[in-house]
Amino acid sequence: SPTYRIASIPGDGIGPEVVSATIQVVEKLAQKLGKFQIDFTHIPWGTKYYKETGQYVSDDCLDTLRKFDAGLFGAVGAPDVPDHISLWGLLLAIRGPLQLYANVRPVRTFPGTKCPLNTATEGIDWMLVRENSEGEYSGQGGRSHIGQEWEAATEVAMFTRVAIKRIMRFAFETAQSRPKKHLIVVTKSNSMRNGMVLWDQVASEVSKDFPDVAWEKMLVDAMTVRMVAKPQSIDTIVGTNLHMDILSDLAAGLAGSIGVAPSSNLDPTRKNPSIFEPVHGSAFDITGKGIANPVATFWSAAEMLVWIGEKDAAAKLMQCVETVCAAGVLTPDLGGTANTQGVVEAVCAEIEKL
Ligand code: NAD
Ligand code: IPM
Ligand code: MN
Repeated sequence: SPTYRIASIPGDGIGPEVVSATIQVVEKLAQKLGKFQIDFTHIPWGTKYYKETGQYVSDDCLDTLRKFDAGLFGAVGAPDVPDHISLWGLLLAIRGPLQLYANVRPVRTFPGTKCPLNTATEGIDWMLVRENSEGEYSGQGGRSHIGQEWEAATEVAMFTRVAIKRIMRFAFETAQSRPKKHLIVVTKSNSMRNGMVLWDQVASEVSKDFPDVAWEKMLVDAMTVRMVAKPQSIDTIVGTNLHMDILSDLAAGLAGSIGVAPSSNLDPTRKNPSIFEPVHGSAFDITGKGIANPVATFWSAAEMLVWIGEKDAAAKLMQCVETVCAAGVLTPDLGGTANTQGVVEAVCAEIEKL
């Protein structure tokens, strides 16, 4: 039976809590099914590592990751380090350089969640596709006249035809694989007259190869209203790095809690290992309390299992997680009274019944 090598990067805050919860559950699953082995290697990158070494990751971090079949990431960010240092030190130092260009964020109402919208009669089931390698996160720009009255700063959003085309193809393929075959391309091509206009152009070029996918353009501001007012009119959405960062948190909130939202950083060419993580961050307000919702990371691990070829195991894991949530074993973000370890034990008990 195959052995998969997984890099575990718990990071900061509740990251280690949700990653260790997930490792327990995935190891239990592998052991119960007996069809594959999963071998987690702990990688200590994060704020503690930064305080000891002066960097968030090791010098050879990309090559280190390339030795694995996939990565499971927790969160990064600490109250006493500026966020742009921690995030560019770790997470953004990996996503772009490893060219994990497709960030896939499924959002659906989950057993135990309450969608705050009464317009979502059948619940929410969306697939958000985020460009994950450039755009507003290109890191280009700078500051001049620092501290002076006339100080200026630029934050350059850089868009390339190659990167837009590859994410657009990925999004059309994703939409095509879903029953509704519907894609919304989100831009802001009214006020943004360069990169966003290129997005619209590439979308219409790529669409010609997908005649069975119904697609439309939407401005990002109007899109937020549509998500709230007409959730049933949405299936797959694609947009830029920043636009989809914001829309994916909104979507998670509309589906009930950010504590259940997963995120896959994929290299669809499979040259580099893909990295799976919850959408949420290090959540300083609940760190150390043992009440972080581990479901977002469970779901991310299920997406990882699909990616490495264990689709059946992934489906079984999600089935166990949903049974536990439906039975009301929920953390406080979902209105429950369970703690993280309580959810882990309940899911492991379900796995035992498989
Ligand atoms: P956050 O996602 O950490 O927290 C937002 C709110 O959601 C908090 O009230 C938190 O308690 C709650 N929450 C988040 N995850 C939860 C879970 N699993 N269970 C229950 N409740 C949960 O966002 P923030 O407060 O904006 O950011 C905190 C830090 O995390 C910052 O340093 C930020 O830069 C960083 N961050 C990192 C990532 C990442 O590593 N992928 C993502 C987002 C934010
Ligand atoms: C996310 C996070 C990150 C992002 C931050 C922490 C850099 O918010 O994964 O959604 O903006 O991509
Ligand atoms: Mn985000």
